[in-house]
Amino acid sequence: MSQPENDIDAMNTPRILVTGATGFLGRHLLPILRSRWGDAQVVGVSSADYNLLDAAQTRKMFAVVQPQWVVHLAAYAGGIGANRRYPADFFHRNALLTVHVFQEAALAGVRKLIYPLPGCAYPASAISPIDEGQMWNGFPQAESAAYSLAKKQGLVAAQAYRQQYGLASVVVLPGNMYGEYDNFSQGDSHVVPALIRRFHEARRRDDAEVALWGTGQPVRDFVYAGDVAATIPYFLENYDAAEPVNISSGTSTAIVELAALIKHLVGYTGRIVWDATKPDGQSVKVFDVARLQALGLSCPTPLEAGLRRTIAWFAANYREQTDGLRLEETSGTNGTNGQLLAHEALFSNSQPLASSS
Ligand SMILES: NC(=O)c1ccc[n+]([C@@H]2O[C@H](COP(=O)([O-])OP(=O)(O)OC[C@H]3O[C@@H](n4cnc5c(N)ncnc54)[C@H](OP(=O)(O)O)[C@@H]3O)[C@@H](O)[C@H]2O)c1
Repeated sequence: MSQPENDIDAMNTPRILVTGATGFLGRHLLPILRSRWGDAQVVGVSSADYNLLDAAQTRKMFAVVQPQWVVHLAAYAGGIGANRRYPADFFHRNALLTVHVFQEAALAGVRKLIYPLPGCAYPASAISPIDEGQMWNGFPQAESAAYSLAKKQGLVAAQAYRQQYGLASVVVLPGNMYGEYDNFSQGDSHVVPALIRRFHEARRRDDAEVALWGTGQPVRDFVYAGDVAATIPYFLENYDAAEPVNISSGTSTAIVELAALIKHLVGYTGRIVWDATKPDGQSVKVFDVARLQALGLSCPTPLEAGLRRTIAWFAANYREQTDGLRLEETSGTNGTNGQLLAHEALFSNSQPLASSS
């Protein structure tokens, strides 16, 4: 029986499932996938649709959606403060989110699975620029090890399911992402959202100074989340190998430069005071992007341009907390998480910056 032409197109286009679609990276990724493959072929889900801590719900998700390709972004992430207080929750939840999705994807006959691993999965002793070959050279940063090692099981799973089930699973390592839809809560945020919020609120209160932990000398590699998302179609269509790939800008920015730039873009006119008695964390942590570039990919958005977009989105949504802006910490799970001090958020950013989420 002949098919109408558009039905044949739909049959030839893989159905793509994105877990964690309501999160930071998911919100950047969904429009990119939909503009490429069409709204009907791209299904984004969150915990409100399927709780992937539950194996039965995970199985149901695959039975209902019947995807050929999966981008598994769902994770339980937070800042260093939350990681210190809830390491067992970070381990348990991320382990289950990884285990359930690999298993059920394989049983459901999924053809391609993209799995992002955070940069904090690299050993704490990794030497910058950190290339993918350093992955198993040591233990990760202790504060977020429960999170990062639970996530890192995905690397083992990718190889195991590739070998046993022929699941084309691909592990990518986004660097220190920043951008619209990031988490700006004091307990869960990384350095870019933490600084944007600090300077924005200091400007609103007309504070004379903003105190930041450390010397500001550590160097990090920041990547615009929209750039990371834009590489995912390539991995879905063209990359099928067990070797993980760093996805970052490969550029180096000292925290002191980052703070000065954000202060300027936010329009805060007070002083920055660095508290050098507080720890700095690793002095340099940047990612080697040679493997990414060899694939013809890059993350080209200049830091200033990406920050302008992020700050504009934050400022537009701050007052009413619109468009899903996250200002409250959500990673505590037992109702006992108090508000973290602002400096804890910045302290977390003085630690290896890709440390959580
Ligand atoms: N952010 C970074 O800098 C970074 C860097 C490298 C790698 N990564 C990785 O990239 C992925 C996306 O990170 P992100 O920053 O976008 O995370 P995020 O903003 O924290 O979003 C997490 C997503 O996971 C979903 N989720 C959480 N628990 C779930 C559950 N039990 N069942 C189903 N869905 C659940 C959330 O749904 P609800 O909204 O319903 O809770 C949300 O959509 C993660 O795997 C992370 O490890 C992130």
